[in-house]
Amino acid sequence: MSNSQLDLFSNQYKELIEDQFQKSINGLEAPNILKESMLYSLEAGGKRIRPLLLFATIDAFQKDPKIGLQAACAIEMIHTYSLIHDDLPSMDDDDLRRGKPTNHIVFGEANAILAGDALLTYSFQLVAETPEETVSLKNKLDLIKLLSHSAGAEGMVGGQVADMIGEEKTLNLEELQYIHLHKTGKLLSCSILSGAILAEATQEQKSNLEKFAYHLGLAFQIRDDLLDISGDASIIGKPVGSDSENHKSTYPSLLGVNGAEEALNEHYQLAMDALYKVGGNTGLLEALTEMIVKRNH
Ligand code: IPE
Ligand code: IPE
Ligand code: MG
Ligand code: MG
Ligand code: MG
Repeated sequence: MSNSQLDLFSNQYKELIEDQFQKSINGLEAPNILKESMLYSLEAGGKRIRPLLLFATIDAFQKDPKIGLQAACAIEMIHTYSLIHDDLPSMDDDDLRRGKPTNHIVFGEANAILAGDALLTYSFQLVAETPEETVSLKNKLDLIKLLSHSAGAEGMVGGQVADMIGEEKTLNLEELQYIHLHKTGKLLSCSILSGAILAEATQEQKSNLEKFAYHLGLAFQIRDDLLDISGDASIIGKPVGSDSENHKSTYPSLLGVNGAEEALNEHYQLAMDALYKVGGNTGLLEALTEMIVKRNH
């Protein structure tokens, strides 16, 4: 697949979710300041990797990616809420996100916490309210189960807590892997497996996609850790050096930059191997995986 094909696909589906964000949030009967702060972070941009993975997974099975619109927006809303809370003074205490001042810098801490809460809750409403002509009741229930499991104590939130417990300690690789797989991996694999639910993939295809997502999740966060050291804040849109300032255990802090790069390549290869086993039309997923591993932002 050429870069321009990936760009075409990305631009088309980014526009689709961004229109949906506007429609959804503007349609809420809620205080303006709340809607403004929710939209501020949703519209700040971001790579939209999770929605794109969801759409690309549906595409791999020759179904119309648009059936994933609500689920894709829901995952991006949960991801955005996780970033708003991750940046709070009580967590990573960062003041730049997606190239703009963080939500709490603009709206204050209380509003930022509540904007996160509202994005999290609304994501489930959005999936539940998807018209049945688009997504069956059974698939909606399966999506909600997967989404709640991936976002909560056994997923992203659990990983964020482990990440905080790990501050000031030297973790072993297994402990660090648990953090990466949960704080980051779970929402990425939720995106891929939601696509598989919507496309009615077989059990065997789902289990290969799960392996693919496992390695992709690790590769994604290792790249994020490397960018925290060698990235350019004006390109990554968030501060560089946040991890070392907060005494986080990361792949580079544990294995060195070269060791982290080796681990990244290993997981990239293993992700690609699993993806080949899925069969189907996985060109977009392959291109996205390459982009994730090589990205400079
Ligand atoms: C950043 O995720 C947070 C992590 C899970 C490492 P992204 O790198 O996908 O951030 P955006 O959405 O593009 O801003
Ligand atoms: C956080 O990981 C992942 C989330 C659940 C938000 P990081 O703390 O490394 O994410 P960035 O680097 O701030 O985006
Ligand atoms: Mg963090
Ligand atoms: Mg952070
Ligand atoms: Mg980071």
